[in-house]
Amino acid sequence: MPGLTKNRACVILGPEVKRFTSGGFVLRLWLSATSFPYKRAMEPLFPSAYGYFRPDGREYIITTPFTPRPWSNVISNGDYGLIISQTGSGYSWRGNAGQNRLTRAFQDLIRDNWGKYLYIRDRERQTYWSATYKPVMRPYQHYEVAHGIGYSRFRHRVEDIASLLTVFVAADAPLEIWLLELTNQSATPRHLDITSYAEWLLGFAPDEHREFHKLFIETRADPAQQALFARKYLWGFPDELGRHNNIDWPYTAFMAVSLPLQSFDGDKESFLGLYNNDDRPQAMHAPRLAGRCGRFGDAIAALRVEVTLAPGETQTVVFTLGAAADGQEDAETLIRRFTTPEAARQALEAVHAFWSRFLDAEHVETPDVGLNLMTNIWAKYQAISCRLWGKSGPYQVSAGYGFRDQLQDSQIFLSSEPEYTRRQILLHAAQQFIEGDVLHWWFSIRGGGPRTNCSDDLLWLPFVLIAYLDETADFAVLDEAVPYLNGPAEALYDHCRRAIERAFARFSPRGVPLMGDNDWNDGLSAVGTLLKGESFWVAEFLYAILERFIPLARRRGDERFARRCEDVRVELYEALNRYGWDGEWYLQATTDAGLPIGSRQNEEGRLFLMPNIWAVISGAAPPARAAQAMAAVTAHLLGDYGPLLCAPAFTRPRSDIGYITRYAPGLRENGGVYTHAATWAVWAYIRQGQPERAYEVYRRICPPYRSADIDCYKAEPYVTPGNTDGPLSPYYGRGGWTWYTGSAQWLHRVATHWILGIRPQEDGLLIDPAIPAHWPGFRVRRRFRGAVYAIEVVNPDHVNGGVRSITLDGQPLSGNLLPVLADGRTHSVHVVLGR
Ligand code: GLC
Repeated sequence: MPGLTKNRACVILGPEVKRFTSGGFVLRLWLSATSFPYKRAMEPLFPSAYGYFRPDGREYIITTPFTPRPWSNVISNGDYGLIISQTGSGYSWRGNAGQNRLTRAFQDLIRDNWGKYLYIRDRERQTYWSATYKPVMRPYQHYEVAHGIGYSRFRHRVEDIASLLTVFVAADAPLEIWLLELTNQSATPRHLDITSYAEWLLGFAPDEHREFHKLFIETRADPAQQALFARKYLWGFPDELGRHNNIDWPYTAFMAVSLPLQSFDGDKESFLGLYNNDDRPQAMHAPRLAGRCGRFGDAIAALRVEVTLAPGETQTVVFTLGAAADGQEDAETLIRRFTTPEAARQALEAVHAFWSRFLDAEHVETPDVGLNLMTNIWAKYQAISCRLWGKSGPYQVSAGYGFRDQLQDSQIFLSSEPEYTRRQILLHAAQQFIEGDVLHWWFSIRGGGPRTNCSDDLLWLPFVLIAYLDETADFAVLDEAVPYLNGPAEALYDHCRRAIERAFARFSPRGVPLMGDNDWNDGLSAVGTLLKGESFWVAEFLYAILERFIPLARRRGDERFARRCEDVRVELYEALNRYGWDGEWYLQATTDAGLPIGSRQNEEGRLFLMPNIWAVISGAAPPARAAQAMAAVTAHLLGDYGPLLCAPAFTRPRSDIGYITRYAPGLRENGGVYTHAATWAVWAYIRQGQPERAYEVYRRICPPYRSADIDCYKAEPYVTPGNTDGPLSPYYGRGGWTWYTGSAQWLHRVATHWILGIRPQEDGLLIDPAIPAHWPGFRVRRRFRGAVYAIEVVNPDHVNGGVRSITLDGQPLSGNLLPVLADGRTHSVHVVLGR
C-alpha cells in the first residue's frame, strides 16, 4: 500500500536517536559501564523543541507550556489520584475519577483550561500571575515542568519572583500536596499574596447540570485550622431501598494551607466576579477574599496567605487538598499531618520510596536507551499509576475496570509485586456469572456493569492466570474460592474452566468461535450480534490458551476436561485453517450474514493484523502459512509508525460491521496503528523467527523515538499512545489517546519476555534472547521466586539469539534454564550467545 514508508528515516534515525544508539558510542559505554548506560549519560535524552528526558530517565522535562497537545502526568497512590498537564490544568478524584471526582473539569484538550490553581500577586505593584502557566498565562522569564514518578514540578519566573511548585499525591493518604517555594530574585523586598482556587464537584463527573448539583454542597471555613471544608448531601447512588438522590456523599473534602489565613472564599461568583474567567478573577483586585461560605453559592475553595520576601529570600508554603472518608479518616488529622513544609518534604521522599518498590525490582540495561527508559520506568508507571490505579487519563475518564483491560495490565506487577496480580485475578473472577461469562466492565465503586456477548473477555482470566503461574508457581491460587455474581463461591480453577466451557458452547456449525458482541477489537460491534458471525482471532486465542490449560487440568486430576480441551484444540486448528485462510492471509471474521472480513474480496478492511499475528503467536498456523501471514503483515500493514490494525481503513459506515467503520479513516481501530496490538506484532515476528524485524517494529512504536518528529507525533514521548493515525489521516503519524491504554504493559512485556527473552516458567527462568545482532549484549537484574538474578548476556559473534554457554555463580550450567533458587540471595549469571 502506497505511502507507508515515506518518513522512515526521520522516525527511526533522527539525529538524537543516533547519538545515543550508534554502535561505537554504545559499545564504549558498554565496555566501561559499571552502571546503566543512560545513567552515565550527562546530556538530556531525546531532546526536542518541547522537552527531554533527564539523563537518568526518571523525569521528563518540558521546557515550554506550548506543547503540541497537553502533556500530562497521571498520579495515583492506588486510591487518591490527579491528572496535571504542563500548563498546570487537571483534576482530582478519590478511588474513581468518574464516580468520585473531587474537583470540576471538562475534557477540552485544546483549551486545557480546567484546573486547581495557585495565583501569585504582588500587593504593591498590583500585578499577578499563576504558579503554573494556566490560568493567568502571563509572559514569563522562565518556565519548565518536570513530570516525574508520582509528582510534577513547575518552575516559573515572573517579575523576578521564582516559584517552584511540586504537586504530588501522598503515598499513603487520600490527599495531594502542593509544595510551593518562592524566591525573590529582585533587589527590593516583595510583598506577595498566594491564593489557591479549585471548584468542588464531589461525586459523579462531570456535573454538567451544575445548577442542580451546587444546591447540595456546603462549604465551611475554619481560620484556626487554616482550612476550608466541603460536604455534599447527595451522591448519585440509590439508597438501601433503591430510592435515588437520597444519600450523602460520605466524605469531607478539604483544602488547607501552612500559613495563617489572610482570607478565604467558598463562592465562585464572588471569587471570579460575574462574567469573568479564571485568568482575570475579581479576587485579584480585592485586598481580601470575600469570605462567603455555606450552602447558597457555587462551591469553590480559595485560601489566601501573605508572604513577604527580602531580596534573595526563599519561603515555602504548603497547600493540601483531599477527601476524608466518614468513619475512616478525619480531615483535620490529615491536614495537621501533612500541611507543613517539613511534613510535605518527608511525604515527597515517601513517594520516591513507594514507587521504587514497583519500578526497581527489575532493571534492564541494553544499548537501546528508549527501550531502557520505557521498560524500567515509564511503561511500568503508566500501567500502574494510570491504568490500574488512576483508571483515568487525559483522553478517557474511566469509571472502573474493563474485564480484559486491567487483567492484562496487572501482569506489570509480576516481576515486582506478583501479589497484586493475584489480587487482580481474584477481583476479576468475582465479576463472572455462573454461566461462565463476565461483565465487560464494571464500576470500581459498588460494582455493576454490562453483561454482554463479548467473545474474548472471559478467556483473559485463564490467560493471565497462566502468566501468573509461570512467574510464581503459586498453584494454591487455583483453590481460592470466589463467588459468582449470581452463584456461590467456587475455586478459581472452576471459574477458568467455566469461562472455557462457555467459549466452547459458542461455536458456529463450522466449529469456529462466534464473534458475539465483539472480540478483542471492540469496534467490531455489529459483526456477530445475532450469534452467527465468527471470529478467527478468538479461534487462535482459545487455541493458545488451551495449550497451557490442558496440563493445568491434568495437574488438578481433571482428565476428562483435559481430553475435551485436546479434542477442541484439534477442531479449532482444522476449522481455522479450513475456513479462516483467505489464500494469502487469515480472515478476521465472518458477519452474521456470512460475509468475510479481512479478505481479498473486501475493498476496505481487506487485511487485519490480529488474526495474522495471533496465528503465529498461538502456533495455530502451519509454518508455511505463518510465513505467508507475516509476509502479508509486512507488505501491507507495516508502515513508518508500526503495523496498522487493518488496511485499507473503512471510509464509509457499515452497519453490519460496527463502529470501527464509523471512525474517520486512519483513526483508532479503523486503520490506525493500535499500539496494544502493535506490541503483539513484535512478539509474532520473534515467534516466527524474524528478530530484526521484531526489533524494528518495537522501535517504531517506542514513544521516546518519536521525539525526532515530535511536531508530527504531538503526543507525550514518555508514555504509550493508544493509537497513531494511519495513512488515510492527513495527520499520518500523530499519536493520540495517551496514558489510558493497555499498550504500556505489553510494551514492557514484549521487551523483557520476547526481545530480551527472559521468561519465567514453572521450573525456572528461561534465557532465550531475540535481540538485534548489532547489540554487544545486555543486562537484566530481576527478582524471581525469592531470589535475585543478575544476568549479563554477551554477544561476541553478533547473533540474534541462541545460548552458547551459561555460568551461574561461576559454575557452568547446561541448557538455558536458570533453576529456581529461592534463597533470598543475589545470583550472578553470565550468558554467552552464539552457535
Ligand atoms: C479499547 C478497550 C480494549 C479493547 C481495545 C481494542 O482499548 O479498552 O478492551 O481491546 O480498545 O478495541
